[in-house]
Amino acid sequence: MRFDIISVLPELLESPLNHSIMKRAKDKGLLEVYLHNLRDYAPGKHRQVDDYQFGGGAGMVMKPEPISDCIEHLMAERSYDEIIYTSPDGQRLDQALCNRLSMKQNLLVLCGHYKGVDERIRQKYVTMEISIGDYVLSGGELAAAVLVDSVGRLIPGVLNDETSALFDSFQDNLLAPPVYTRPAVWEGMSVPEILLSGNDKLIDEWRHEQSLARTRERRPDIWEKYVGGD
Ligand code: ADE
Repeated sequence: MRFDIISVLPELLESPLNHSIMKRAKDKGLLEVYLHNLRDYAPGKHRQVDDYQFGGGAGMVMKPEPISDCIEHLMAERSYDEIIYTSPDGQRLDQALCNRLSMKQNLLVLCGHYKGVDERIRQKYVTMEISIGDYVLSGGELAAAVLVDSVGRLIPGVLNDETSALFDSFQDNLLAPPVYTRPAVWEGMSVPEILLSGNDKLIDEWRHEQSLARTRERRPDIWEKYVGGD
């Protein structure tokens, strides 16, 4: 799977995408991430990528021409399954959307900055807008990093133990159960007896019950969907 990310601050994306599981995914050849500096497509000595907004008001707007040039350049080389704009106005990223996107081949991600991009870019190119939550970031780069990480780890073969993504929170529309490691007793607190029993069937049942209880208590919104079956 390949991500192309267009940004005015590609440096922000380098560290999060070059460590741990993302690095392993790249090393295994399962994930490719290419960062494109929008300033490389901006003309003139100042490489200007933003301008004042028509109608007045505080904040700059990302100019359409450099973005269009960059997108056209990339589209001439391959076709994209989606052209995603990271924005607080977008569809909220959740595990179901991550699962769907993990089946795509080529995704192009445009990171917003300042007041955002000129609306005509959204009209002409963007096929999907994604928000990572109802709060405003200084730019779309951190959202793009979240997107690549949450989608990239779902590509088959990326996680060592392939089943582990299956037991993540949300993967079955429930929160994950509590987990424990050694020592069996720490600060007077014991690991639940059942986990030491060696009885896989009972352990599975216990974990499922814990997931149900956790979801019901902590995320009534998800619980409603789970019991409602949608
Ligand atoms: N850019 C600014 N805020 C954002 C958010 N919440 N999600 C995605 N992109 C953003």
